[in-house]
Amino acid sequence: ASYDMGGHDTYMHKEIFEQADAVDRVLRGRIDDRFSTVHLGGLNLDAREARQIRRVKILGCGTSYHAGMIGAQMIEELARIPADAEPASEFRYRNAVVDPDTLYIAVSQSGETYDVLAAVQELKRKGARVLGVVNVVGSAIAREADGGIYVHAGPEVCVVSTKCFTNTCVAFALLALHLGRTRDLSVRDGKRIIEGLRRLPAQIAEILEQEEGIQKLSEQFADARSMLFIGRVRGYPVAREASLKLKEVSYIHAEAYPASELKHGPLALIEPALPTVAIVPDDDLLEKNRAAMEEIKARSGQIVAVAHQPQEKADHTIVVPKNEDELDPILMGIPLQLLAYHTAKALGRDIDKPRNLAKSVTVE
Ligand code: AGP
Repeated sequence: ASYDMGGHDTYMHKEIFEQADAVDRVLRGRIDDRFSTVHLGGLNLDAREARQIRRVKILGCGTSYHAGMIGAQMIEELARIPADAEPASEFRYRNAVVDPDTLYIAVSQSGETYDVLAAVQELKRKGARVLGVVNVVGSAIAREADGGIYVHAGPEVCVVSTKCFTNTCVAFALLALHLGRTRDLSVRDGKRIIEGLRRLPAQIAEILEQEEGIQKLSEQFADARSMLFIGRVRGYPVAREASLKLKEVSYIHAEAYPASELKHGPLALIEPALPTVAIVPDDDLLEKNRAAMEEIKARSGQIVAVAHQPQEKADHTIVVPKNEDELDPILMGIPLQLLAYHTAKALGRDIDKPRNLAKSVTVE
């Protein structure tokens, strides 16, 4: 496919800058202010069925798996249903126990990823209910699923996923809100989340205005051999996705770790040559994250923080606007897409078509 580049040098850059509009689209027509909930027409799940769900299991690969990790967190927080995400590629080979009270959700940009499709088919064969959170309308996974949510990110051409990741996270926020409001999420909290969702597009635009500063940072890190990404709970999947993005486009080795696990091993790696990117949302773990940065600083590690206010322990802070705690992960990865892009650009990489990768992996 080929679409108008609109003055951008790559599809990756174009798609990063389409995110405010894309988020606007995934929200459009779905918010119900009267009952502080959302309408998800294609879900095929009535309130009684929604209340019978005992667990949620989210399956996807790569970036879609990371969006699923954020989705699981939101579902658990807002709907209080135990939820977790697993790579579809692992799930389908481990003879998993398929439970009739579990809602399975398959996540895919293309809707054609073979490992995800095979997992869906195996689940359906065992009588499970499977929903799809998919971008491409009418794709194989969308057709195979019992219902689902289209993420409406629009066509994504760059092999590396950016806007679809963000929209998938927003689609999960909608699902979490919907499930929450069939259960114990209050009208007040429903309203709070809806207001937060409505703030996202303008906040995304605000983040993208910081491109110049992020570009300067990227040029500084382009000669790093490796980078560490850390976060806790809501921040951890953001760290995972940011590290994948950097690997894919710049070919710099990157590792993501829960900040809480640093002292159980990775602290041994810290030295001036290994920069750390720390995801530091202003939530109840802020002090814990500050302590982790202090540990790194004490070992002369360089730190870039992504936070809601400048962090004293960090050498640089990329300040992102604050949303509701539950929705913050949606925004915190966006500056790191730009970091990956500008690092790759500084290194002269083939940004839209990284070596060895395909946009959708439709084979075993
Ligand atoms: C994204 O940057 C990757 N290239 C890749 O991990 C991708 O997310 C994965 O292959 C899943 O693709 P899908 O969302 O189309 O199923």
